[in-house]
Amino acid sequence: MRIIERVTEMQQQAESWRREGRRIALVPTMGYLHEGHLTLMREARNHGDEIVVSIFVNPTQFGPGEDFERYPRDMARDELLAGEVGVTVVFAPSVREMYPDGYQTFVEVMEVTRPLCGRSRPVHFRGVTTVVAKLFNIVKPDAAVFGEKDFQQLTVIRRMVDDLNMDVQIIGHPIVREEDGLAMSSRNAYLTGSQRGAALSLSRALGEAERMVHGGERRGAVILDAVRSQLGSEGELRIDYAELRDPDTLENVTEIRGPTLLALAAFVGQTRLIDNRVLPG
Ligand code: PAF
Repeated sequence: MRIIERVTEMQQQAESWRREGRRIALVPTMGYLHEGHLTLMREARNHGDEIVVSIFVNPTQFGPGEDFERYPRDMARDELLAGEVGVTVVFAPSVREMYPDGYQTFVEVMEVTRPLCGRSRPVHFRGVTTVVAKLFNIVKPDAAVFGEKDFQQLTVIRRMVDDLNMDVQIIGHPIVREEDGLAMSSRNAYLTGSQRGAALSLSRALGEAERMVHGGERRGAVILDAVRSQLGSEGELRIDYAELRDPDTLENVTEIRGPTLLALAAFVGQTRLIDNRVLPG
């Protein structure tokens, strides 16, 4: 496995693979890899001959006061794990390499970035789409794999790819969970023992909502009341949002008539966690 830190070197490598007819699959990450990321890399092997994993904690997607500085990092361990799942190249540029002096270009998707995480993190998706567009230009992937835990992010990236005619196949991969149900996330490393217990109520609330729909409940307000009271019973947890949305357009849903996204975000202590499930129609 090769580690590449320079944009031009990555572009040359990608170009030479393309000339040889090799398919490139990209897994963009911010590192501190866990089983969820490794699952995306295994999935990437179904879509490319050469697997590139980018590891870059992207400053432009963090707002003021968010956790950019303290976001967990462990490059040595990440390289080891990526090597074990058959990654060809880890692309790990510096912030200066990605955003040199004088940098001033951003990619912004409009409607689908406004609700949910976009409301409480106003600059977040602009940073995500900008860095992902840059990664696509640098790595030139045929396919890119993203986790469905960041459901809105996946929707936003699909929109960008369609709108800007980017020639990349976007693959979404289902959420990978710990045995106790907690959705895997690098930010889980911030949680204390009791906070971790509180965080479990997110997946429990999703399960409860799904049972209600299976039981015939269709009223969005009733389902959201049950979800909020499940989350509200945890003293250490503060709800950011609990919403029902159309999984394609992210428009608000008040009555379940087809597959519906139940999206949750909550602060457990200082840590903001998200989780979601597409409820059956
Ligand atoms: O999902 C993430 O880890 C990040 O938002 C991404 C897609 C790697 C862009 O920095």
